[in-house]
Amino acid sequence: MNLTLTPEWQTLLAHKARLEQQHLRDLFAADTQRFSRFSLELDNLLVDYSKQRIDAAVLDDLLALARSTDVAGWRDRMFAGEKINVSEQRAVLHTALRHTAFTPFPNAEHDVMPQVRAVRKQMRDIVERVRSGLWRGFKGDAIQNVVNIGIGGSDLGPKLVTRALAATEHPGIDFYYVSNLDSAHLAPLLEKLDPRTTLFIVASKTFTTQETSINAHTARTWLMAAAMEEWAVAKHFIAVTSSPDKAHEFGIPDQNILQIWDWVGGRYSLWSAVGLSVALAIGMSRFERLLEGAETMDKHFCSAPLEKNMPVLLALISVWNTNFLGAETSAVLPYNESMRHFPAFLQQLEMESNGKTVNRDGEPLSCRANPIVWGEIGVNGQHAFFQLLHQGGWLIPCDFVVTASSDYPLPGHQAPLLANCLAQSGALAFGKTEQQARTELSAAGLDEASIAKLLPHKVFAGNQPSTTILMPSLDPFQLGMLLALYEHKVFVQGVIWGLNSFDQWGVELGKQLANRLLPAINGDQAYDENLDASTAGLIAYFRRHGNS
Ligand code: F6P
Repeated sequence: MNLTLTPEWQTLLAHKARLEQQHLRDLFAADTQRFSRFSLELDNLLVDYSKQRIDAAVLDDLLALARSTDVAGWRDRMFAGEKINVSEQRAVLHTALRHTAFTPFPNAEHDVMPQVRAVRKQMRDIVERVRSGLWRGFKGDAIQNVVNIGIGGSDLGPKLVTRALAATEHPGIDFYYVSNLDSAHLAPLLEKLDPRTTLFIVASKTFTTQETSINAHTARTWLMAAAMEEWAVAKHFIAVTSSPDKAHEFGIPDQNILQIWDWVGGRYSLWSAVGLSVALAIGMSRFERLLEGAETMDKHFCSAPLEKNMPVLLALISVWNTNFLGAETSAVLPYNESMRHFPAFLQQLEMESNGKTVNRDGEPLSCRANPIVWGEIGVNGQHAFFQLLHQGGWLIPCDFVVTASSDYPLPGHQAPLLANCLAQSGALAFGKTEQQARTELSAAGLDEASIAKLLPHKVFAGNQPSTTILMPSLDPFQLGMLLALYEHKVFVQGVIWGLNSFDQWGVELGKQLANRLLPAINGDQAYDENLDASTAGLIAYFRRHGNS
């Protein structure tokens, strides 16, 4: 199906010209109910999309697009455990990981819950033993450092959540995340850690990822240098994987292997035992609150009518911005310092899921899919790249994320933080007209000639769309809702574009090439004649200056 030829798409194209003529200033002026019309609240999670360049007619037709692409049907197929990941013939059931009732899921015939509950129990047991000090290292010491070795989905989700909820982290245990192959990541950490008190979690769905494998082997060698005995591995290594055999080969005993399944995508695996480091940091009960928050969003996604459905609305707005208003990128701007890993998490979630140009059947898409996602802590961005958002002439939809209160309350910080966040979304939306700038300059006493010179620099075009997500505080429940909101938003976008959001074949080529290049980099000249001139030149440089 050519999406762009459908009547729903064509109707939206007709709105495009109209909306492009309208400024957010006009839209707000024309409708005093705009905030209540274009915002939603679920369990205190407030999503304000009134500063998006939409009106009721656009939204109606976006909803028609969601209906015509069968968003509700695909959602139901996902929750029913159908193999909607068609290129890998897999079901997509990360939602089972946050199913908390003692009922079957997705259904009695194919109930995955017994396995899920068994691993949750295994997690709880490990978490209780480590946090209480019952889990002992090879010399009988309690664990004081937990190092999660993983990359991509086996790193970004747990790292984001552990840091976001760090205010309630176990006071006697430090948490580290190692992903980079560059030894500058692991080496300085090993220098300061004590092997007697360090527990490694090797998180890898496949257990074949090169970066994780090399880091895990280095960590194991480091442990062995101190412990000298193989049995020490059982006291210092846990594996989270869907390939228990490979974890076994590494030397990790069965009781330390926590299973995940092929129906959990890497970037959707936070809710599984991949979240073990989170549970160790905040305790199993609070980890379960995270799951409950996500489950609340799942239920909302499944039951709310499309016009009141948060993930659906956020997805439709993104499609509108990308495919109709022409945005090529979108920015995510968390204002809480603890949410600093949110942009990186969303980059994987959105771009690994929907960074595609073919549909489920392998045919070319008729329109562009996911925009480029980028972002930074908002308040830092204000003093760096916001200039371009305000006056650079690019259309860059922004998501502002902020909490009403801080986990680290210092007098006089939170209100200015919020003021900055709201000031930025306001300035981006409404800008400053020539008339406003002129009035300000003349009030400041400038003469006509100076005003004329300065005026072009003082005008802000505005009309930059944004969504603001406000939560009372960063607690596990709210965070669970927020992350599930984005997961489902990405899913809905994928359905509308007609693609499979759950594979990632595009990352394979680089992995294959890296394996092929390794012998050449290590000096084996037999490979040289197959190298392109650029790669050959770069390898020659490495041979002159590098170490392996
Ligand atoms: O290479 C991409 C990827 O497969 C991601 O999808 C995944 O999250 C990451 O690598 C890590 O994979 P694994 O958990 O199997 O080590």
